Amino acid sequence: MLRRLFVTTALPYANGPFHIGHIMEYIQADVWVRFQRMLGNEVHFMGADDAHGAPIMLAAEKAGTTPEAFIAGIAAGRKQYLDGFHISFDNWHSTHSPENAELSRGIYARLKEAGLIYTRSIEQLFDPVKGMFLADRYIKGECPNCGAKDQYGDACENCSSVYEATRLVNPYSALSGAKTELRSSEHFFFRLSDPKCVAFLREWINKPGRLQSQVSNKAKEWLNGEGDKALGDWDISRDAPYFGIEIPDAPGKYFYVWLDAPVGYFASLKQYCARKGLDFDAFVRPEKSKAQGTEMIHFIGKDIIYFHTLFWPATLEYSGYKTPDQVNVHGFINVSGEKMSKSRGTGISPLKYLELGMKPEWLRYYIAAKLSANVEDVDFNPEDFIARVNSDLIGKYVNIASRAAGFITKYFDGELLAPDGNNPTNTVVYASEESLTGDYDAREFGKAVREIMRLADLINQRWDKARPWDLAKNIADPGTKKQLHAVCSECLDAFRILTYYLAPILPETAENVAIWLGLPTPLRWSDLRRGIGRKMGPYRHLMTRVEEKQFDALLGLPAAPPAKEQKTVSDIPKMSVQSHSMADAQRTVPAPISIDDFAKVDLRVARIVKAEHVEGADKLLKLTLDIGAESRTVFAGIKSAYDPASLEGRLTVMVANLAPRKMKFGLSEGMVLAASGEAPGIFLLAPDSGAQPGMKIK
Ligand code: MSP
Ligand code: ZN
Repeated sequence: MLRRLFVTTALPYANGPFHIGHIMEYIQADVWVRFQRMLGNEVHFMGADDAHGAPIMLAAEKAGTTPEAFIAGIAAGRKQYLDGFHISFDNWHSTHSPENAELSRGIYARLKEAGLIYTRSIEQLFDPVKGMFLADRYIKGECPNCGAKDQYGDACENCSSVYEATRLVNPYSALSGAKTELRSSEHFFFRLSDPKCVAFLREWINKPGRLQSQVSNKAKEWLNGEGDKALGDWDISRDAPYFGIEIPDAPGKYFYVWLDAPVGYFASLKQYCARKGLDFDAFVRPEKSKAQGTEMIHFIGKDIIYFHTLFWPATLEYSGYKTPDQVNVHGFINVSGEKMSKSRGTGISPLKYLELGMKPEWLRYYIAAKLSANVEDVDFNPEDFIARVNSDLIGKYVNIASRAAGFITKYFDGELLAPDGNNPTNTVVYASEESLTGDYDAREFGKAVREIMRLADLINQRWDKARPWDLAKNIADPGTKKQLHAVCSECLDAFRILTYYLAPILPETAENVAIWLGLPTPLRWSDLRRGIGRKMGPYRHLMTRVEEKQFDALLGLPAAPPAKEQKTVSDIPKMSVQSHSMADAQRTVPAPISIDDFAKVDLRVARIVKAEHVEGADKLLKLTLDIGAESRTVFAGIKSAYDPASLEGRLTVMVANLAPRKMKFGLSEGMVLAASGEAPGIFLLAPDSGAQPGMKIK
């Protein structure tokens, strides 16, 4: 049975450009959406800007413009990110729209009819200079508990106590500096604590498949809170001046931004349905949705669970709408172990990433590889990124295509043999179809990626075992030629299957492969077993490798000296040079060099005087090396293989005249040599006993 899905991501505040956290959320949702489309499901993927609220109003004021002009500017900048990272929203709208005002007011009217809205006067701090009531984050004063100065209106950074802003001593406005005044004003409340509301939510959060267990547990805690943790009613109004939707029949009162923000999901869908001639009600009204089997699915981050598992379902339930079928929550992305600031983002700017020519699919692949269905934070680590993209995505997956295509072009004029139905490679690769579709559907993308890479390893092993480079030497023999033709065709067909498997993550590459191999497009899961065309087009390299210097530029590090050109693919695992990072530990194509070339490399015996962990680095150890006359610092990607303590005192070999390279963690002044191959393990070289630090290797 095909599914009909209305899918959303959280609506980003329109107070700044996208940061990497937003992009991560879009990639997660987009991979899932593309997977569903590949299955033939009907998907309507909606986004919008969350344009209301005091912060946006104040940001516009600061920028010397109106909120309307301000949010329009932000909205105009969205497309380049969404297109740039291949995020396939079907519509992008705004909460500052006629659809949203109408829907929000309609919901409010129904809640009022249901007796769930009441008004009450509350006391709040008022800024007489700005002429407005202040939210906690705009109020400062002395902590009522420890007396620390300049603490915010909700909690003390000095003693960690949490309090009401009105309890601050000598409070003042963080906006104008003026002494605040306590004033009262009438607010509108949604009766969330109503027993029928609580009973409804208790049941709602427990529906199997709706929430991750971590999320329903969290919601349960809130619902079961007692004393001062008890679930309170929800203050849904704000006083003018406010940028938002005015409450009907209540001049000077606006909906609090979080009331109309999720309604923006509907507003975007409504605008889209009108444009497409679709029935909006089929997705948002309970009876119609049930009859037509539509589903409503949200992707959000862990910081906004409260709104999506309590307020949003409750407002929908009591205003005649259907409630979400799934709320999928992800963790936060941190860069190299550092928490990113919500407003400023991280050091990684998605736009700069694109401008530097870094490939969107690298990021999609890397993020997918790190994601699971749990609410776990994701650490973005440049070395890990480079290693996964270069060694796995390119070294394993793309490698199969470029290896096989070379021979097919050279000896067989692009002709492919139809794969033998019983060939063991494809049988194995096909066998993972069910587990992979299950993983994608369950948002276990990391698991899917690991499985696909395991298959890529098997295909590469099959290739290596057949030794096509040896077969090619004997091409005059018809039997050998046939063998070569078979192994190339077989591996290429296995590559085709992997391309289907990776297509939700790598849409652009999948499309290029489809053109190259003549596959039916768009790629549909139902075509998986249709096999390959009989002739391939000319092979163009499918994907470039990440270069470390691109990361240096992305992270704003000074430019490194140009790295030597490195070839990407080889048929034979070779001793490799273990250097600044794992990324360099690639197999290289051996080309003959002269003794003079070799003499250019100044290899020295080095004693590891000190070996240390590097804060925030997954792969690196910091080595202090004694090479006789001087001491060098080198960052080596050998952490996975060596305990630093075991290295101190031992001898190894280093390249002493490598241009120093500025890394995120400091300057690396050379590299140490180590061997590695297909199998795991890194093996540091060592001279025989008797060698002394500083001795030249020749
Ligand atoms: N405007 C609200 C959402 C309203 S939904 C009806 C909002 N906006 S936001 O711009 O702050 O965040 C948008 C989404 O980005 C949220 O799902 C949030 O969790 C996510 N992220 C913000 N920072 C993030 C990371 N560092 N990592 C991953 N996602 C993060 O909240
Ligand atoms: Zn304090």
